[in-house]
This record gives sequence, structure tokens and C-alpha cells, in this order.
Amino acid sequence: MLIAGNWKMNLDMPAARHLAGSIRNSLEDPRPVEVVLCPAYAYLDAVYGLVHGSVVSVGAQNMHAQDAGAFTGEISASMLRSVGCSHVILGHSERRQYFGETDASVREKVAQAVLFGLVPIVCVGESLVERDAGQAERVVAGQVRGALKGVAYPGKGRLVVAYEPVWAIGTGRTASPDEAQAMHAHIRSELAGLFSTGDAAHIDILYGGSMKPENADDLLSQPDIDGGLIGGASLQADPFLAIVRAAMRAG
Ligand code: PGA
Repeated sequence: MLIAGNWKMNLDMPAARHLAGSIRNSLEDPRPVEVVLCPAYAYLDAVYGLVHGSVVSVGAQNMHAQDAGAFTGEISASMLRSVGCSHVILGHSERRQYFGETDASVREKVAQAVLFGLVPIVCVGESLVERDAGQAERVVAGQVRGALKGVAYPGKGRLVVAYEPVWAIGTGRTASPDEAQAMHAHIRSELAGLFSTGDAAHIDILYGGSMKPENADDLLSQPDIDGGLIGGASLQADPFLAIVRAAMRAG
């Protein structure tokens, strides 16, 4: 089980430090749950300094596919490693929607992240129009293949996929546990086709999209839901910790 907090473009430095410190201090040993905080770039170093040595690790929300060079405003995998990141979210729907990211650009980034020892959290998910048209499974399978085809399996625990239906992100509307489980099983069978059944069994598939303490138990107890990527509910310690505890129960 893995619970990741995607703080998106929120918080200032004091608030980020306070949130990271509260999570670290109030987390009883959450094994076998992995906890990852993904703050804005500007706070990565500070958050890493606060959680280093605890059970909490740090991830970025994006990165560039090249390692260095004239790419103003961008950040590379090795830079993220150098400030303590272990994970990186790639292909989030907001990146796809507002910043023109495609399956092809996500695949380049995934390969680069793996090369530099970062665990990619690869996001996929259909829009409401696609779901209503009965296209959800086809769209999501296409995104999984598009982001991962040709990428060598990086090993147990070294690759994470997040299913985030776009219509559930930040809307308060969540996929039902049955809807989410069906899609997660579908994603796992795609992963088995790309890698192997054994490898696919060791890839954590997270659910994201309005996960909160009230629905976390039902979602996380589904057999193919291996954790959560949490947006809104990760911006305060109490709801985020409640979701981590739900993951421990489901563990
Ligand atoms: P949400 O965001 O929990 O606020 O819906 C999830 C995400 O975008 O990762």
C-alpha cells in the first residue's frame, strides 16, 4: 500500500513545513504503508529535511525528460534525486490538460525517471465524456500502453500507476469502489501484457480523485486498489493521516 499526497500548487513555505512536520510527528509506524509527500519544487528540500529518517518520503509533481541543458524553468531527474526525492508524479491529468503533455512525452519522462532511480507514479484516467461514451477502458488502456510501452520493468516497487478519472479530481465526486476496482483490474491486465503477470502483481495501482477519510476504507479494501493519490485531502494533516490509517487497516 502506498499513500501519496499531491499538494499541487498550494501552500507557502511555512505552511508546507508545518504540514510535513505534523504528518511526520503524528504518524505511528505505518508499515506496510508507504507514505510519500509531493510538494511544489520550491519546498522539496525543506520537506525532505523534515521527514528524512522517518517513514515518510518525498516526491515531485513533474520533471523534464532531459538531464540538463537550456530548458528554462524545468527540472531534471538528477536534480530531484539531489534534493532527496524518491518518487515523481508523471502525466497527471492537469499536466495533460493545461501543459500539453502526451502519452509520448510521459513515456520519455518515465524512462528517464527509471534511469535515474526515481519511482514514477504514472497517472492515467478518462474524462466524463469518454466514460459516458463507454470509452473509459479503451482510453485508459491506451494511456497505460502509451506511457509504458518499451520501458523495461524497473523491478518490484519501482513503478506505480495511478488511476485518476478526470471527472473525480477535485470535484467531490468519487468513482464507486466497484467502478474503481473494475478499472484497476483492467489496468493490471494491461500491465501483465506489457511486462508479465508476476511483475504486474507487484506494481502498486493507486486510486485518485476525491479520496477522503469517508470513502477511503471502501476504496482501499478493493483487491486491485493498492493505495491512493490524494489531492485536496492531503493539504491538512488530519484527513491525510486518516487515509493513511485506512490503508493500514486495508493493508
Ligand atoms: P483530489 O486530487 O484528491 O483533490 O481529487 C487528486 C489528484 O489530482 O491527484
